[in-house]
Amino acid sequence: MKTVTQLRNMKSQGEKITCLTAYDASFARLLEKAEIDVILVGDSLGMVMQGKATTLPVSIDEMEYHTAMVCRGAPNSFVIADMPFMSDVSYEEALHQAGILLKAGATCIKLEGAHAHTLEIIEGLTMRGVPVCAHIGLQPQSVNKLGGYKVQGKSKEQIKELLYNAQALESAGADMVVLECVPAVVAAEITSAINIPTIGIGAGVDCDGQVLVIYDMLGITQGKRPRFVKDFLADNASVESAINAFCDDVRSGAFPTTEHSF
Ligand code: KIV
Repeated sequence: MKTVTQLRNMKSQGEKITCLTAYDASFARLLEKAEIDVILVGDSLGMVMQGKATTLPVSIDEMEYHTAMVCRGAPNSFVIADMPFMSDVSYEEALHQAGILLKAGATCIKLEGAHAHTLEIIEGLTMRGVPVCAHIGLQPQSVNKLGGYKVQGKSKEQIKELLYNAQALESAGADMVVLECVPAVVAAEITSAINIPTIGIGAGVDCDGQVLVIYDMLGITQGKRPRFVKDFLADNASVESAINAFCDDVRSGAFPTTEHSF
């Protein structure tokens, strides 16, 4: 299993970090077999598994259930579990819900945003020895406020804010940060401004690692396929070889191309 120190060393040595989502033991087993660096039990499960329109309805019980299944399938992997929407209504509630996911087997907790209350929760988890993955750029739990799944960091003010937030998250103790749907040049600037790894999704090739929703990279995206998604099953004969191709392409820098970036 990778450690946060190893992931940070990968950044300093220019080795790319591979990450895919999983929601059950069978896919988790395949990811562990492919020696993926990180598995994410994303709250995207609300959309891709449950068929809901957004991630907002996902509950802590559902996150606990899926995290436990993934950890059973991949007992030797670094598993990140997403904090569901509104798990941060109070500091105490957030720590309590994080504890549920950690007891289900997660190695690391992911939470969206960089507001003062989020930074406080990250500090609290860090003080308790819990690895944290932050998530900025397009935050799917804020989709209604954002007015849709749109690229973030287009204006000068937004770019400044993203950079400021990434640095604040690092100072609060975050061990890595997901950058979702931000222009490649902005993601590159953030990546070189902080010491913790950036994991991009729709954020260009210069991030320290890449993540995709596993169903997307297997070509079973619901509705219109987002620009940043590549169907790795299209050119591979099995799910296993598609996962290996994703890992190889991320490690070599062949994925993402400009075609998958903003
Ligand atoms: O929930 C999820 O799967 C995520 C990824 C898209 C990064 O947050």
